[in-house]
Order: sequence, then C-alpha cells, then structure tokens
Amino acid sequence: MIGKLRAWARRHTEQDRYSPVGIAFHWVMAFLVLFQLGWGWWTGFLHPGGDKLQAYQIHAAVGLPILVLALGRVAWRLLIPGPVNDADKGGWQTQAAYLTHYLFYLCFFALPLSGWVMWSSVAEPGPLYLAGVVPWPRLPFEELPLAMRWSILDVAEDIHHVLVLLLMVLVPAHVGASLKHHFWDRHDVLRGMLPEVPDEADPREASQHRPREPRPLEE
Ligand code: HEM
Ligand code: HEM
Repeated sequence: MIGKLRAWARRHTEQDRYSPVGIAFHWVMAFLVLFQLGWGWWTGFLHPGGDKLQAYQIHAAVGLPILVLALGRVAWRLLIPGPVNDADKGGWQTQAAYLTHYLFYLCFFALPLSGWVMWSSVAEPGPLYLAGVVPWPRLPFEELPLAMRWSILDVAEDIHHVLVLLLMVLVPAHVGASLKHHFWDRHDVLRGMLPEVPDEADPREASQHRPREPRPLEE
C-alpha cells in the first residue's frame, strides 16, 4: 500500500512537482492560516461581549482543523519527499527556504496548541468544536489553582502572539521568494506547487516538464 502510494507520488515529484495531496495540503492550510491571521487580528478590535466571544469561537473552530491537518501533513511529508526543483542548489537561499518551511510547520502545531491551552485556562469561555461540528475537549485545568491557570494563560498567550508575529514575517518572505523564483529567475518552484492543468490541445505533453518541441507547420 505504502509502496504504491510512493510510486504514485514519485510520478509527480520526478517531474519536479509536489503530489496532488501535497498541493492540496499546501493551499488548504495556506488559506486557513491566512484567514486565521486576518480574523484573529480583527477580533482583537471587537469590544468584549457576545460578538467577540462568538468571533473567537469561529477562530477556534477554524484553528483546530489546522492542528489535525498538520498531523496528516507531517505524516505525508515523511512518507513522500518533496520534489527537487530548480531552486534546490544548496547555498543560503535553499537553507532559508527549508528554515521557513520548518518554522511554518512549527506554527501549524504551536499556534492551535497555544490557542487550545488559552481556551482551557479561562473560566467557561464556551465549548470548543472542531470545524464548528465535532466536539473538542478542554484541557483538564479545572482542578489547578487559579493563580497557576493565570500563569499558564499568560505563557500560552505570549507564545500565540510571538508565533503570530513570526508568521507575519514568514508569509511575505515566503510569498515574495516564490514570486521572485517564478517571475525573476524563471524557476519551476511555483509551478510545482500549482495544480496541473491538462492541456487539451496537446495531451501528450501536458504533464511533461521539458520544453515543447515546436509543432509542425500546418499545411
Ligand atoms: C494557525 C492557527 C491560528 C492562528 C494563525 C491564530 C492567529 C491569531 C491572531 C492573529 C490573533 C490576534 C492577535 C494576537 O492576540 O496574537 C489570535 C488571538 C487568539 N487566538 Fe488564535 N490563532 C490560531 C489558532 C487558534 C486556536 C485553535 C485557538 C483556540 C482553540 C485560538 C485562540 C485564540 C485566542 C483565545 C486569542 C486571543 C488572545 C488574546 O488574549 O489576545 N487561536 N490568534
Ligand atoms: C500566495 C501564497 C503562497 C505561495 C505563492 C506559495 C508558494 C509555495 C511554493 C512555490 C512552495 C514550494 C517551495 C519549494 O519546494 O522550495 C511552497 C512550499 C511551502 N509553503 Fe507556500 N505559498 C504560499 C502561501 C503559503 C502560506 C500562507 C503558508 C503557511 C501558512 C505556506 C507554507 C508552505 C510550506 C510549509 C511549504 C513547504 C511544503 C513542504 O515541502 O511540505 N505557503 N509554497
């Protein structure tokens, strides 16, 4: 089973592309994280009350799936190595790209976890639901002394804030680098992370990553 999965994914990675599963993980999670950044930031401006609580409930409902997806994504990534693309030439740029990817993975885990800890350490902010549907437990902090719960809340809040700041540096750097590779260096990096679009006019060449042969002139 795993062998078949690897062979299937290799068909994509050998052509310098991420597999469709890797691509789906990337764009779904990129969308969710960007939404969380915007929504979390906006929620901070609301006045305390029902609307703010409801907004944080949505924030938690969207944030918890990121934790679940991160587990699946790490498992997938360990199973299926990414492609070697034009930008993988070693040197500081490759190292910076890898470091950025590792830090993203850190955020995928540590942001939802610190959010979950915050939620569990304050008194009854309301129930948690994964994606707003599946009930999600609170961490067992009820028995802890109040002062300790406040300290836990403080630390978790600091971690959440620092990681939000980290994302605000990483995302523009990452997006900027991928656009630079695409438009400036003409590398295949971004292409490898985009869904493959079949070329109806030329299906034989559609998934091949090599310059096309010129078509014969029409008579
Ligand atoms: C990748 C996922 C997440 C991202 C990107 C994210 C982002 C943010 C942002 C931008 C803020 C506002 C700025 C700040 O206070 O630092 C925030 C605040 C907050 N988030 Fe998240 N969040 C995520 C996951 C979660 C989850 C899963 C929960 C709860 C289960 C959660 C609970 C909270 C809470 C309670 C606050 C208010 C913190 C405060 O007191 O200022 N977050 N988050
Ligand atoms: C418009 C926005 C984005 C573009 C154009 C983009 C583009 C790319 C490209 C081209 C790669 C492949 C890089 C390589 O193999 O060297 C990549 C990988 C990656 N991106 Fe993005 N990205 C975007 C947004 C995001 C966001 C918001 C996140 C995180 C929240 C993210 C997280 C990642 C991660 C973790 C990888 C490594 C994939 C892996 O090997 O597992 N990306 N991205």
